[in-house]
Amino acid sequence: MDPVRIGILGLGTVGGGTVSLLRRNAESLQRRLGRPLKVSRVAVNDPNKPRSVELEGIDVTTDAEAVCTDPEVDIVVELVGGVDNAEPLVRKALNSGKPVVTANKALLAERGNELFRYAGEQGVDLAFEAAVAGGIPIIKALREGLAGNRIQSVHAIANGTANYILSRMRTEAMAFDDALTEAQELGYAELDPTFDVDGIDAAHKLALIAAVAFGAPINYEALTIEGIRPITAEDIAFADEMGYRIKLLAITKHGPDGGIELRVQPALVRTDTMLASVEGVFNAVQVIGDAVGPTLYYGPGAGADPTASAVVGDLVDVARTLGAPPQYRVPYLGFHAEGMQEPRWAPIEEVETEYYLRLQAQDQPGVLAQVTRILAEEGISIEAMRQKEPRPEASDVPVVLLTHTTRERAMRRALDAIDRLDVINGPSQMIRLEEVEE
Ligand SMILES: NC(=O)c1ccc[n+]([C@@H]2O[C@H](COP(=O)([O-])OP(=O)(O)OC[C@H]3O[C@@H](n4cnc5c(N)ncnc54)[C@H](OP(=O)(O)O)[C@@H]3O)[C@@H](O)[C@H]2O)c1
Repeated sequence: MDPVRIGILGLGTVGGGTVSLLRRNAESLQRRLGRPLKVSRVAVNDPNKPRSVELEGIDVTTDAEAVCTDPEVDIVVELVGGVDNAEPLVRKALNSGKPVVTANKALLAERGNELFRYAGEQGVDLAFEAAVAGGIPIIKALREGLAGNRIQSVHAIANGTANYILSRMRTEAMAFDDALTEAQELGYAELDPTFDVDGIDAAHKLALIAAVAFGAPINYEALTIEGIRPITAEDIAFADEMGYRIKLLAITKHGPDGGIELRVQPALVRTDTMLASVEGVFNAVQVIGDAVGPTLYYGPGAGADPTASAVVGDLVDVARTLGAPPQYRVPYLGFHAEGMQEPRWAPIEEVETEYYLRLQAQDQPGVLAQVTRILAEEGISIEAMRQKEPRPEASDVPVVLLTHTTRERAMRRALDAIDRLDVINGPSQMIRLEEVEE
């Protein structure tokens, strides 16, 4: 049987992992597919860089475009990363009638709608399992396994670096900066950690998750994104005492006014939930469907082998339907083009949840009365309030509150007023509390 010939752009963490995995599991892959999957060409930036992966029999070039247009290549795998770097290459491959497999969430979150449209015009596949939650086959689960459901909500721990940092801040009472430095030393965080700690990477993934969950065009602009930099070890310890863990969650769900919420935020989740027990660099995605109820997908969200697992899974799918008419393939986002609908994306002010507040209050009588009066004026009721020990040499004391369910709009107004009080050293900390149904 003729092999399916693969051209890989990029031989870094994921590209190297993909070449290795295709070699290691060549026999079982051939048994699955009925044909061998053969890497015929790879493109890199620096041909002189030492590579740990075996490249015998593979043509290595610095001309990525040539791989995209090579008639001897059947499928192109884009693993160079970046948006402006990758987009022309993906277009070139699609334009040459070649299906593309990519792990590039930034590219698809920002330019996915145009790229899927273009792939559709060319009649070829554009697969992206590896772009979301690394080795966890969540795109396949949402597009295919859960197709019988109307999806109600998705809560994801979608960034291993942020989860590692929060885990270490809790177990070792580390400050954010120290946990970040440790993550960088271990190779879990980039030198520039912005994408991971500021929620951008999780947001890219959430934009794709929401599209396949709800059959909506990708809408990165509709996201509210908050990262974990403002979270202190103190917040984590206070949350722990009250029975909660703080996780960076990527959330999409139907809001109280019918819009679809789309937000990446640190959130308190009950310690006895499965999501709360996801520690370190692992990822987890909890999906609730109207028929199936709650389901949870857990696994490694990054790294050479796990991400290669997703890339190769896509390669097998794409190779099986090479040359087949588009109607025999699963639609890019799991919904027929005519069934795609732009929902109303709920603005953050519409969110309804409970809140954790940490105020830095001056240690004098009457402060708490002023705070509770402001909250009451906004119709916000308090579930629990605790005054903590003052920090050594601090002029103020932390006061921690949990509220009952309230609207974000009211919470924000109240917090503005609280932070204007002379007796509060703002800005105060506000973290949402997510009830995750199990
Ligand atoms: N790392 C992960 O665990 C992970 C997980 C999920 C998704 N992803 C996604 O997978 C993609 C790749 O990530 P990575 O971590 O593997 O990146 P990486 O280690 O930085 O590797 C990038 C590779 O692309 C090559 N390259 C860059 N621009 C090129 C160009 N114009 N022409 C030819 N080669 C070019 C580089 O060549 P040189 O080696 O010669 O410099 C390098 O081999 C990204 O979109 C990333 O978001 C990564």
